[in-house]
Amino acid sequence: MPERMRVITIDGPAGAGKSTVAREIAQRLGIFFLDTGAMYRALTLKVLRQGVDLEDEGQLVEAVQETKIDFGRYPDGKVKVLLDAQDVTEEIRTMEVTNKTFYIARAPRVRAIVVKWQRDIGSKRSVVAEGRDVGTVVFPKATHKFYLDADPEERSRRRIKELREKGQAVDAGNLKKELEERDHKDLTRRVGPLKRAEDAVVIDSTHLCADEVVEAMLRHIKYG
Ligand code: DC
Repeated sequence: MPERMRVITIDGPAGAGKSTVAREIAQRLGIFFLDTGAMYRALTLKVLRQGVDLEDEGQLVEAVQETKIDFGRYPDGKVKVLLDAQDVTEEIRTMEVTNKTFYIARAPRVRAIVVKWQRDIGSKRSVVAEGRDVGTVVFPKATHKFYLDADPEERSRRRIKELREKGQAVDAGNLKKELEERDHKDLTRRVGPLKRAEDAVVIDSTHLCADEVVEAMLRHIKYG
């Protein structure tokens, strides 16, 4: 990694606030925001559209090898996700994609390809990467690593609020159950599971707002 390039990683469970915080830090430092979950989501959308057998890793790999995922920007600075040049920013956030992404995420040969894409991005510029395995597998030599956690109750409360703000109907009980299932899948995946890197700074965001988390991380980045 060239001297002045920085890789900041933020791992943690769904709903801990990683995206909000990573986006803000990237903006404040003027570096690239790498949303790794968006890549797994976009690939899921692709295989769902193609009708690929989600249990068949060979078919998943074939589809992934023919795919190009890019990140762009809207005029207001919001990150745009492009799947084979098509804007899928909104579509990758549906409940269907959310609940089916584990098929793509658990396939070792798919992960190997996606991790390579992520490393390519991080080798060319400074990044703030967020996900589940960015500090452990993707960028083990990152300059700054964080593990952002929060109570499951608080994480599901945040997700419900976020979805309702978008105008989506949400069944709170169901959402909580789905979050627990996703936690379980993330933690028990054989390849690239959710795990705190030994050298990651742990921040519990249960009682913190996004700004407080950002400030705490920036302090570590500056002085840590
Ligand atoms: O962070 P997210 O909810 O957008 O992630 C979507 C899915 O992708 C989630 O089920 C976990 C998976 N994922 C992963 O396996 N590895 C990552 N580095 C990021 C996300």
